[in-house]
Amino acid sequence: MEIIRKTDALLATVSSARERGLRIGLVPTMGALHAGHLSLVERSVAENDMTIVSVFVNPTQFNNATDLATYPRDEEHDIKLLSGAGATVVYMPSVEEVYPEGTAAAGSHVFDLGSAAEVMEGKMRPGHFQGVAQIVSRLFRLTQADVAYFGEKDFQQIAVIRNMIKSEGINIDIVACPIRRADDGLALSSRNALLSDDQRRRAPRIYETLKESVEYSKSHSVRETHHYVVSKINSVEEMEVEYFEIVDARTLLPVEEWSESPWIVGCITVYNGKVRLIDNILYRKEI
Ligand code: PAF
Repeated sequence: MEIIRKTDALLATVSSARERGLRIGLVPTMGALHAGHLSLVERSVAENDMTIVSVFVNPTQFNNATDLATYPRDEEHDIKLLSGAGATVVYMPSVEEVYPEGTAAAGSHVFDLGSAAEVMEGKMRPGHFQGVAQIVSRLFRLTQADVAYFGEKDFQQIAVIRNMIKSEGINIDIVACPIRRADDGLALSSRNALLSDDQRRRAPRIYETLKESVEYSKSHSVRETHHYVVSKINSVEEMEVEYFEIVDARTLLPVEEWSESPWIVGCITVYNGKVRLIDNILYRKEI
């Protein structure tokens, strides 16, 4: 596995791969890797000639300085895991390599991300998706990847990235991969490393409640199901729902009736102490 820190070196590797006609898969990450990331890498390795994994904590997508400062990092461990998973290249650039013009200047291009970027994470974390679009569009162009793999835990992010490639005219396939969970149901996330023992013990209540709510939704309205989830999770010590939205999975806009869309998901963000956890659940998919 080649470890590349400089963008020029990445461009040289990519151009040589292109000359050889290799199919390139990209897995963008912010490091602190876990089995969820590795499942994306393994899928890319199985489906492509070359897999590039980026490990870069992108400052422009953080709207909270403490969140950026405390984001978990473990470069050595990441390299070991990626090499074991069969990645061909790991791109681990500095902020200056990615944004040579400076992060403020990078923000002068405003991406058209559609209405999917205005709700939920877009509302709670102003500028977050513009930051995601900045880094992801750069990675797509630098790596000239044929396909990029993302985890469905960030359900909204995938919809926003699909909108971004359309509006920017970037030709790449986006593959959405299923959420990986711990044995007790907690969605794997780099942020789980920040939980105290007590918070970690309580964290599976999120998915447990979401799963129960699927059954509940069969005999209750959207509004009742919403109330069921929020009140149950808020009753757990140290937990507070930031938002829970039951949405049309295609537009990410809220639905009021189950009959409104053939594809409905519930997206949730919960503060478990100070740690912000996200998850989602499928209610209906009839398309
Ligand atoms: O999902 C993430 O880890 C990040 O948002 C991404 C896609 C790697 C961009 O920094």
